[in-house]
Amino acid sequence: MNTKKGKIAILLSGRGSNFEAIYKNSIIGDSPFEIAVVVSDKRKAKGLKTADDLGIPAYFIRPRDFSSKDEYEKNLIELFEKFKIDLVCLAGFMRIISPILIKKYPNRIINIHPSLLPLFPGLDAQKQALEAGAELSGCTVHFVDEGVDSGPAIMQASVGIKKNDSEESLSKRILIEEHRIYSEVIRLYFRNKLKIEGRRVKILT
Ligand code: GRF
Repeated sequence: MNTKKGKIAILLSGRGSNFEAIYKNSIIGDSPFEIAVVVSDKRKAKGLKTADDLGIPAYFIRPRDFSSKDEYEKNLIELFEKFKIDLVCLAGFMRIISPILIKKYPNRIINIHPSLLPLFPGLDAQKQALEAGAELSGCTVHFVDEGVDSGPAIMQASVGIKKNDSEESLSKRILIEEHRIYSEVIRLYFRNKLKIEGRRVKILT
């Protein structure tokens, strides 16, 4: 039996609760993946400290130490190659990924976004949903392309919006679903169950 696990890199900028949820799933016996490295563009990101505490290689790579965005991402690529990364998972990484990284890892970069894309892309998705008077929102795991939250959606989970919801209360309920579907998608990815057909992603049974 081939027991080699897929290696993932996590990119984050803050709290890192999605990273923690993915980590918990990665240490379950039959998990097909493991977290090989965590990278943050923010020194004070809580997720970076968590990774360090867990004994996962954790790097703070400061964008302004590089002459350009491309140089920054070339440095990320070097690190990913060193760790033999199969899949890059953005988990609250507050930077737009540029073509250089996307071309190097085609359909091998995924992201989680707290809305039912294509609705409410970009920043403050939960606030956007509340301000629009939506009755339903949720979260989406999608492949990353060169746009903002615009790549093919892989899996979504919906969350009803209550009349008295605040940004905080809605975010909290959406986060529960984020933690559930992100690991589910990573598992499917490494079990070769995701098939991209144009902009649609089929989940094979
Ligand atoms: C999540 O809501 C995620 O959907 C968005 O940024 C937030 C990150 O939270 N992209 P955390 O750092 O994983 O706790």
